[in-house]
Amino acid sequence: MRIDLTDETLFATNAFEPVFAWLRANDPVHRHEVPGGDGFWVLSRHADIAAVYSNAEVFSSRFGMNLGSDPAAVAAVSQRMLIVSDPPDHTQLKRVLARSFAADRMPMFEALVGDVVNDVLAEAVDRCADGATVDFVDIAKAVPNRVVCAFMGLDRVDWASVGHTVTEAFEAEDEAVRTAAHAEIFLLFADMLGRRRKNPGTDFISELATASRGTGAPGRHRPLTDEEIIFNCNGVLAGGNETTRYSAAGGLLALIQNPAQWAQLRAGGPALVPTAVEEILRWTVPGIHALRTVTRPTRIHDVPLDTGDRVTLWNVSANRDESVFTDPDEFRVTRSPNRHLSFGQGRHQCLGARLARLELAVLFRGIIERFAGFDQAGDPVWNSSNFTWGLRSLPVTLTPIPAGHLSSRKAPSHG
Ligand code: HEM
Repeated sequence: MRIDLTDETLFATNAFEPVFAWLRANDPVHRHEVPGGDGFWVLSRHADIAAVYSNAEVFSSRFGMNLGSDPAAVAAVSQRMLIVSDPPDHTQLKRVLARSFAADRMPMFEALVGDVVNDVLAEAVDRCADGATVDFVDIAKAVPNRVVCAFMGLDRVDWASVGHTVTEAFEAEDEAVRTAAHAEIFLLFADMLGRRRKNPGTDFISELATASRGTGAPGRHRPLTDEEIIFNCNGVLAGGNETTRYSAAGGLLALIQNPAQWAQLRAGGPALVPTAVEEILRWTVPGIHALRTVTRPTRIHDVPLDTGDRVTLWNVSANRDESVFTDPDEFRVTRSPNRHLSFGQGRHQCLGARLARLELAVLFRGIIERFAGFDQAGDPVWNSSNFTWGLRSLPVTLTPIPAGHLSSRKAPSHG
């Protein structure tokens, strides 16, 4: 079997499942060489990936958390940006940031997400009038973008351009464009932070501007530095924008391709949505892999790993592991339990998982309430990335339930 996980066409053509099925069965600790570059280890089984996620001492995040990251760029933010930090800084920073996404913040998020989804779906109903084709990715990406921008207190006039810049920072083909986009986001947050330090409000940036973190010395705290705030705002903006939309769009495509599951979801109604959301997350896997660096000699099974070795954890493969999931290649909205690893696991488990689940649940609840069905109106296009992966375009026609019938849930006309 030819294995090249750096070949982005593998992801652009959605052709990677057979590669991971082969790895899980035949070579679970696979050595992946890179011509002229640094090789890396590939873990494909659920149990091995979960074990590495849970051992941050031996498998470090501070040297980067994805293949293809620029070592100089990582060094510039390491131990200050959550996702590329190890304890003790990671512990202290996460304690502060996690407060803003805690369970007691969910009523605020529920109101915000409810309003945003209402607006976005009302706009979708207008745009798909008379059978017009819409790109569902535009609908899917508006939800997390508006939510995260409102939560951060960004000016409304900037929301669309901020969403566009974040996408460019991750998806632009030209590296210079990606770098310029990242710089633009850092400048935006530097400017916002300056304003919030003078005039704090109730938004996320103000919360960080007035927060303090532990220093490691018992009882000693200090304010977050500007860099800690700006880097982590960037992390939250990117995490918020570049992932949930892939699950939303990929979830709709899965429902189109599996009409019986759409029928079951509509029949089950809102009560079934949380279970369906977990299956959508298992199926779509926007964070396709994560990376760790070995801090001291260790073994996985009988394979020795050396200090400095890079280990990649393929969430996308863990989620199809036949030893964990029954019929893993089937999309089932009733699947339970569902121990997917789409949010990672352990200390770096996704900060925004609760919010992402809420956004997806409110969106799919809105979809079953407002639409009788949908059809594909063109070929889906996938992002050509082995890191943040999902649909770049999904042309569809939507069939709204006529006003006045919105509360009735008739049998679906089609998938
Ligand atoms: C479907 C949606 C999402 C998926 C699939 C996802 C996936 C992930 C994964 C796999 C990680 C762990 C990375 C690692 O272990 O190295 C992670 C971490 C993170 N995510 Fe998400 N994410 C989603 C939504 C969000 C949202 C909505 C936000 C914020 C608003 C967010 C912010 C973050 C942050 C800040 C981290 C770093 C946490 C840490 O290092 O402790 N994510 N996410």
